[in-house]
Formats: sequence, C-alpha cells, structure tokens
Amino acid sequence: MRKIFAILILAGSFLGQNSWAQDCNQVIEGNDLLQFNLSEITVSSSCEEVTITLKHVGALPANVMGHNWVLTKTTDYMPVASAGQAFGPPGYLDTSDERIIGATPGMIGGGEEASITFNLTSLEVGGDYTFFCSFPGHYVLMNGKFIIQ
Ligand code: CO
Repeated sequence: MRKIFAILILAGSFLGQNSWAQDCNQVIEGNDLLQFNLSEITVSSSCEEVTITLKHVGALPANVMGHNWVLTKTTDYMPVASAGQAFGPPGYLDTSDERIIGATPGMIGGGEEASITFNLTSLEVGGDYTFFCSFPGHYVLMNGKFIIQ
C-alpha cells in the first residue's frame, strides 16, 4: 500500500512539472494560409519567464509569407500593426516602439522558427493582451488573445 502511494505521488509531481513547463514555454505555428494554429495562449502568472516559439510550418519565403509573433495590449495592437507596416521590410516592425511587450526577432519563412522570452512582471493578471503577426495585412487574420491567469 505504501508503495502505491509513493508511485502516485511521484506520478503527480511529474504531471505537475510537465504542465508547468508547457504553460511557461509554448509553441505556436504559422502556415502559408495566413493562419496561426492558436487563437489563444494562456500562461500562468506563476511563470517567472515565458518563452514563445513560433514555427513557420509553410513553405513560402519570408518576403512573401513572413510571420512573426508580436505581443501588445489589445488597445495597442492595431496601431502597432499599422506602424509596423509603415516601417517596412524586412521586419515590418519598429522594435523601438515601447508599446511592444515582446516580439520574435525578424520575419521568418517556411521551415524556420524564432523565439522570444520575456517576463510577466509588468503585465496584469486578467489584462487584455493580443498577439499578432505584423507582416502587412496579416494582423487581420493572424491574431489571438494572450491570457495571464
Ligand atoms: Co505573417
């Protein structure tokens, strides 16, 4: 009996670690059809840091079907996307824009990936945040909610 309890506790702690790791370290995919595979990313406020890895699972090059992952407050998302479009190629993002909470470096094309690590200390639990791709026109379809709980 004691052995079974020990095994259950061990299994429980492994599961706990796995869910923690997934929560603070997440992967999102972009494709050749102007789509992210997630419309929401939820992270725990207990994460010291969050790492988002963007994988471009399409085949088109970055100058045609570039993707990045940019996080702002929801109220800033359209203005930052417009400013990024005006900023122009190849990045389509003014990385000095202080409204940007985090962004993967540069635009990636098919088969590439990029990551960004940032901390949540300046963000609000339950706040309204949106992630998007800043390639011209993509933000309309390629966006989602970033939820801290
Ligand atoms: Co894109």
